[in-house]
Amino acid sequence: MSPAVLLTTKSTGPDQTRALAARLGHTLRRGDLVVLSGELGAGKTHFVKGIAEGLDIDDRITSPTFALHQRYEGRETLHHLDVYRLDDLAETIDLDLPELTESGVTVIEWGDTILDILPADRLIVRLMFDDDDLQRVVIFETTDTGAGRWRDRIVNGLKAALPC
Ligand SMILES: Nc1ncnc2c1ncn2[C@@H]1O[C@H](COP(=O)(O)OP(=O)(O)OP(=O)(O)O)[C@@H](O)[C@H]1O
Ligand SMILES: [Mg+2]
Repeated sequence: MSPAVLLTTKSTGPDQTRALAARLGHTLRRGDLVVLSGELGAGKTHFVKGIAEGLDIDDRITSPTFALHQRYEGRETLHHLDVYRLDDLAETIDLDLPELTESGVTVIEWGDTILDILPADRLIVRLMFDDDDLQRVVIFETTDTGAGRWRDRIVNGLKAALPC
């Protein structure tokens, strides 16, 4: 199924990206999978920090550069993955992704590089550089296999709360 764009918005700085992600974080529940796509330094880890805020996680979120997977406890468990340095697909399979995604909220930086092995029901957030250093275009997409559950949350929840 081809992806459907649910929302396109802009961020004018790291704090705004974080606030947008926190708003999304508030709506997340166990079993949700969020894939983050964007070049180096686009703001994926900042976005995860916001999601963590929305999940009432007090720990400081860091880039799981060498760990591949970090786990945080809040209103729900947050599984934070960064598959940028993944050399071997077997490493991901070792993580037992289906079990992982069922046990909490999963957010995967560079997850767009392993879409083939991810559950089909996921939200993709694309962060793209814009005109100046501080601006990002943020696009929310889904294939909506889950009977529109993302559509409802993003369009009726997130979009409705945006200033414009
Ligand atoms: N609108 C913005 N949203 C997010 N980050 C921004 C924005 N404008 C500037 N920045 C800066 O861009 C950088 C984003 O870093 P971050 O680690 O979140 O990126 P990343 O996509 O996770 O990178 P990597 O691919 O290395 O994991 C930070 O230094 C942040 O201050
Ligand atoms: Mg990062």
